[in-house]
Parts: sequence; structure tokens; C-alpha cells
Amino acid sequence: MSDSAPVLTIDGPGGAGKGTISRLVAARLGWHLLDSGALYRLTALAAVKHEVPLDDEPALAHIAATLDVVFVAENDAATVLLEGRDATAAIRTEQVGDAASRVAALPAVRQALLQRQRDFRQAPGLVADGRDMGTVVFTDAPLKIFLTASAEERARRRHLQLREAGVDASLSSLLKEIQARDARDMQRSVAPLKPAIDAITLDTTRLTIPEVVDRLTELLTERGLASAT
Ligand code: C5P
Repeated sequence: MSDSAPVLTIDGPGGAGKGTISRLVAARLGWHLLDSGALYRLTALAAVKHEVPLDDEPALAHIAATLDVVFVAENDAATVLLEGRDATAAIRTEQVGDAASRVAALPAVRQALLQRQRDFRQAPGLVADGRDMGTVVFTDAPLKIFLTASAEERARRRHLQLREAGVDASLSSLLKEIQARDARDMQRSVAPLKPAIDAITLDTTRLTIPEVVDRLTELLTERGLASAT
């Protein structure tokens, strides 16, 4: 039964490394991957495309519930199709990230995306990346991780990522955006960003990506959820 498939939840603020770490752990274990942030980003992008105001909760919930999205995993790359068109790059912009965090504050939107997220739970297991994976969506997950890093370090990582992509952005404005998004995610009334009471918090400020992946694999092995690799 899919409901009994193990889930590793990885929650935390933007830029803590959740996306990369989740992808690597899922690939190492051969588990499925849920990038829940992508669903909020896709809802925001679809809203902008269809000229739906970002505070029209019923219309946004309808968009979320009927989102025509296909995730295509090929080798190392993942492509996202929205209404049949490649939206992989479009959902990664700062504007869409900001719009996503606004629509994500609306309870009806979160409710509309709940079952779609739970449907990702399939054997042999799922790595679920987001803000409320351990607190709301998969409360019974056998291993919950809360990944953090200082805001300065997260801004530095984002700056580097953008520079590699040929985008020039100022470090101080990135830091401000990160702090504003953290505040919005932590202060919203529904599913605020916080560690689940049974989550293990891992601060990645001084850790490399392979160190974090190894630590998570160790924890899964210790709990009998994965065999030692
Ligand atoms: O993780 P990512 O930056 O792609 O998420 C975009 C936005 O979607 C976040 O800032 C957050 O507001 C929202 N989100 C959420 N719950 C999740 C995943 C993302 O509220 N599980």
C-alpha cells in the first residue's frame, strides 16, 4: 500500500540546501521526490498567466486544484510542464518565488494542494522537500529533518547560484528578500514554517553537500529505513 511507503521529510527556509540535498538523497536511495515548493510556484505562475490577482483566494484555490502539471525526470534533470509547456526555468525566478510565498499563505490554496502532495507517497519511498512536510502533509513520516543555515549563508549561496547562471544580483538585496520571505513563511497563520516536534534540526551553514547527504543516509540506515550504501 502506498500509504505505508516510508517518507523522509526535509523542511526548512529557502536556500538551506533542501532542493539539492533532497534530490541527491532520493537518487541515492532510488526513492521518489516531491518538490512541494514547485507546486506553489506553478500555482503562482499559472495565476500570473491567467491574470488572476494574487489575493483572489477562491480563484487561486481553483487554479491549484486543477493545475495541469507534469513532472518529467530524465537522468539528472527534472523538467516541469505547465499546461503542456516547459516551465522549468520560469518557476525559478525571484518574482515567481515571491508570488509563490504569497499564494502559499492562503489556506484554500494549501488545502487544494494537499492530496496532490500525498499522492507522491509511493513505494519504495519518498523524499518530500518543503516547509510543512513534517508538520502537516506527512505527519507520520518516520524521519523528519529541519534543514537550516544562517540567512547570510543562504544569501551567499543564492548569489553564487545566480552568478553561475549569468544573473547579476546584489548580495544585500538577496539577503533582504530572503529575510522577508522567511518572515512571511514563519508568521503566516496556516502551516507556518517551523520544525515538527519530532524533527531533527541540521544546521548546514558549515557543512558541505556530501556531508549532509551522508548524515541523512546514516540516519535513515540507523532507523532501518534504508540499507547502508
Ligand atoms: O521551496 P521554494 O522556494 O520553491 O518554495 C517557494 C515558496 O512556496 C516558499 O517561499 C513558501 O512560501 C512556499 N512553500 C510552502 N510550503 C511548502 C513549500 C513551499 O508554503 N511545502
